[in-house]
Amino acid sequence: MYKSALFPNVLVDSYGRQIDYIRLSITDRCDFRCVYCMTEEMTFLAREDVLSLEEYSRLVKVFVELGVRKVRITGGEPLMRKNALQLFEAIGRLPGLNELVITTNGSQLEQQAYALKQAGVKRVNISLDSLNATRFRKITRVGDLDKVLRGIAVAKQVGFEGIKLNSLLMRGINDDEALDLAAFAISQDLDISFIEEMPLGAVLHSRHASYVSNEQTLTLLRARYDLIASTATSGGPARYWQVPNKKTKIGFISPHSHNFCESCNRIRISCQGELHLCLGQENSINLRAMLRGHPHDDAPLKQAIIDSIQVKPKGHDFDLNRATPAVIRFMSHTGG
Ligand code: 5AD
Ligand code: SF4
Repeated sequence: MYKSALFPNVLVDSYGRQIDYIRLSITDRCDFRCVYCMTEEMTFLAREDVLSLEEYSRLVKVFVELGVRKVRITGGEPLMRKNALQLFEAIGRLPGLNELVITTNGSQLEQQAYALKQAGVKRVNISLDSLNATRFRKITRVGDLDKVLRGIAVAKQVGFEGIKLNSLLMRGINDDEALDLAAFAISQDLDISFIEEMPLGAVLHSRHASYVSNEQTLTLLRARYDLIASTATSGGPARYWQVPNKKTKIGFISPHSHNFCESCNRIRISCQGELHLCLGQENSINLRAMLRGHPHDDAPLKQAIIDSIQVKPKGHDFDLNRATPAVIRFMSHTGG
C-alpha cells in the first residue's frame, strides 16, 4: 500500500495480511454522549489505568519501526485528552510514518485544527449525524451543532489533505437525513461515509430496531446522484463512490459484511494499551505491562507485538439479534 521502506513491514499475520495501520485511542472520555456509543452516566477509567502521552508515543514509535505506515488517533474524543497536541507533534516527527490522521467529534476543532495541521495531521474524520441542531443535541445528548460546523469550517480553511464526515443513521431518529447530509458534504467539497451501527456495548435503544443498512442508503443516494463506483479502498470495511463532477466521495462503512476481513490491514490499541486484533472479537493483548515492565528496552515489546499479530483472527461476527452484545466494550474504549 505504501512506498516508504525505511522500516520494512514485519507485521504479517498467519493469513498473510500485512498490518501497516494502527488505530490508537488516547482517552475513553468524551464531551459528547452519543446514544449509540455511550450511556448517559458513564464511568470512565482511572488516570493510572490509561497510558501516559509518553507511553503512547513510545508505542507508536515501536509500531512504526515494525513497519506501520499509518496511525489514526481516536478516543473517546482524542482532543479531550490534556496536552494531546504534544502527542500529535511527537508522532508527526517520526521518520517512516506516512500518514497521521485523527477521528474527532469536531467540538474542539475550531481552536485546534490549525495546530493539528502544523503537527503533521494529514486527514481528519469528523462525526456528523444530523444537520438539525435539536436533533444533533438529542443524538449526542449534549453536543452543540453550531460549534461542530464552525470546527468543520476552520478545518477546511487550514487545508488538510482530506476531511471526511462520518454519519451514523438510525431508523426513526435521523435516517431521513441521508440525502441532506450527502448534499451538505457535496456543497462543502468534503467526503462523507455512512456507518452502520455496530453492537458495541449495551445502550438504551434496540440496535436491531434502529439498524439502517447501507444498502438502503446507497439505493436512496443513487436515485439522486449518478454515483460512480470508486476503486479507492483503505483495506477496511468501506466502499467508496464518486459524485460526478464533484470532489466528494461517498463511502459506506459496513461492518456487518464480512467480505473485507480478508484484506484487513489494521489493529486497534485501546487507551489502556490493550492490543485488539479484530474489532468484532474480544481477545486482546496487554501491551501496558510490556511497556511498564521494560521501560528502557523496546525489544520485549516488539517481540510481544510480533507474536500477537500471529493470533489475529480470520474475521468477525456481529449478530444484531443476539440478546447481549457480541462485544461488551464500547467504541469509546477501543477507538472507532
Ligand atoms: N457503531 C458504529 N459506529 C460507532 N461509533 C461509535 N459507536 C459506534 C457503534 N456502536 C462511531 C461514531 C463516530 C466514530 C468515532 O465511531 O459514529 O463517527
Ligand atoms: Fe463521543 Fe464519538 Fe462516542 Fe459520540 S461517538 S460519544 S463523539 S466517542
